[in-house]
Amino acid sequence: MKVEDAFNLERLFPKNITEIWLEIGFGSGEHIKWQLDNKKNIAIIGCEPYLNGVANLLALLNKEQLQRVKIFSGDARKIITSLKTGSISKVFILFPDPWPKKSTISDV
Ligand SMILES: C[S@@+](CC[C@H](N)C(=O)[O-])C[C@H]1O[C@@H](n2cnc3c(N)ncnc32)[C@H](O)[C@@H]1O
Repeated sequence: MKVEDAFNLERLFPKNITEIWLEIGFGSGEHIKWQLDNKKNIAIIGCEPYLNGVANLLALLNKEQLQRVKIFSGDARKIITSLKTGSISKVFILFPDPWPKKSTISDV
């Protein structure tokens, strides 16, 4: 997902989607997988800079679920300010662990 896509979320997902959720720092993606298994009318934007986690999530999802997820493989702060007001129904931040660490922060 590109930063500019955050402006047009309704175009990103199938028409039957009634809610778009956001998960910041999804790790290996188990929570996203669980939500997609259990709620058929939601789509999730997942933000995660940890590439092995992104690969793990993609391996967990079936073809239908891949239509309902968009991944921003980077710092969530780069897209959250571009999201339209009211476009996200739920935000998850589970077991947060700051990234990048203070010592490596440069331009965010
Ligand atoms: C302790 S892990 C928890 C992962 C997952 N939520 C879970 O419960 O297993 C925290 C995750 O947040 C991610 N993270 C930290 N800061 C982030 C940010 N600004 N944007 C996106 N992801 C971030 C890290 O890369 C890491 O994978």
